[in-house]
Amino acid sequence: MNRLALLLIGGLAATATARPQKRACSGRPTSSSSSVASLIQPTSEIATTEIVIPTSTSKEVVLPSSTSSSTAAPTTTSVADSTKPTTEALTASYCGAPNSYEILTGTPWIVFSMNYNYQSISGTCCTGYYSVSGSGDDQSVHWSSIWDIDESVNTNLVKGYSFIGLTQNLETTLDSISSIPSKYTWTVSNTTAYKGNVVYDFERQFANLCPAMTSDTKGDSTSSSAQELMIWLQYVGGQVPIGYSEGVVATIDGLYGKDGWKLYQGLNTDTGITVSSLLAPEDSMFDGSFEGDIKDWLLALSKQGIFSTSTYVNVGNAGMEPFWGTVTFDNTLSLRIDL
Ligand SMILES: *[C@@H]1O[C@H](CO)[C@@H](O)[C@H](O)[C@H]1NC(C)=O
Repeated sequence: MNRLALLLIGGLAATATARPQKRACSGRPTSSSSSVASLIQPTSEIATTEIVIPTSTSKEVVLPSSTSSSTAAPTTTSVADSTKPTTEALTASYCGAPNSYEILTGTPWIVFSMNYNYQSISGTCCTGYYSVSGSGDDQSVHWSSIWDIDESVNTNLVKGYSFIGLTQNLETTLDSISSIPSKYTWTVSNTTAYKGNVVYDFERQFANLCPAMTSDTKGDSTSSSAQELMIWLQYVGGQVPIGYSEGVVATIDGLYGKDGWKLYQGLNTDTGITVSSLLAPEDSMFDGSFEGDIKDWLLALSKQGIFSTSTYVNVGNAGMEPFWGTVTFDNTLSLRIDL
C-alpha cells in the first residue's frame, strides 16, 4: 500500500500574527487567547484527511489510478502565466477549495493546493504545475504558487498551503534515511507587497508511541505523538511562527552555511500537534535559492533533544504559506528521500 499520509496539516503549517499584533490576529481579532497557536483554525476535516492510493483498504479518500483531484475541480489552463519569468506554459493550475491536487506519476511527488481557509480568501490562491525534468536526485518539478489575495480581508490569517509533497520513502525512521537531497529555487514576481513564506514542512512521530507501526496507523500524523517540523527559508510581511510569543527555544549555528537559526515551538491547539519551526536568520534569509540535505536539519533538531533519530518521518513537503498579496512564486524543486 502506498499511503501518502499527506494529511496535512491545515493550520499546522501555519503561523500566526503580524508582529505588531502578536496576540490578536489571524482572523480572530476578538480572540483573547494568549496563544498564537490557538489563532490558527484549520478545519478538522482537513487536519485529519488522509490520502490513500487505490489498493488501500482504508481511509477516507481513495484516488483512482494516475492523477486526480479531490474536493474541488481544478481549474486547468494551458495559457502561459504572464507574470512568470519563464516561457514555459502552465500545464495545470489547482485552486482547491480547500484541496485539489495531482499525483505526478513517475516522480515521488504530488502537487497540492490546500486552501484550508478558503472561506476566508477574498481573491484566489492557486498552485500551478508546469513539468517534470531530469531523473534520480536531479529530477525536478517546475511549479508555481499564485496568489491574488485581498490584503484587507482576514489580513493576518494564513489562508492555506501551496506545495509539492513527497509520496515515496516516507514512514521510515530517520536512522534508515541516508539523505534527503533537495534544491529549491523560487522567483518572486509581485505587483503588491505580500505576506507569506517559503518553507519545508516535515512531520515525525515517536516510534514507541506509534501504536501499530506495521498497520495502517504506522504513518499516523494526526495523533498527539506526531510533531510537525518546519524550516522557514524566507518569510515576508511580518509572519511569525507558532510559539513566537514564548520566545526562542534554541539558536542553531552552522546549518546550511548560516549561523543564528531560531527555533520556536508551540502547540497547534486545533490539531493537538506540536510545531517546531526553525527560522533562517532574519537578516540572512534565503533569497530565491536553497540547496542542502534536509536530513541535516532533522539531525540538528534531534541534537536539541526534540526527538531521537529512531523517530519516524511520515510527511515531507516544500511550499508556500499565503496570507495576502498579488504575487507569483515560480519554483523549481528537487526533493527526495534516499534510503
Ligand atoms: C514586492 O514585495 C517586496 C517584499 O514585500 C516589497 O518590498 C516590494 O515593494 C513589492 N513590490 C511591489 C511592486 O509592491
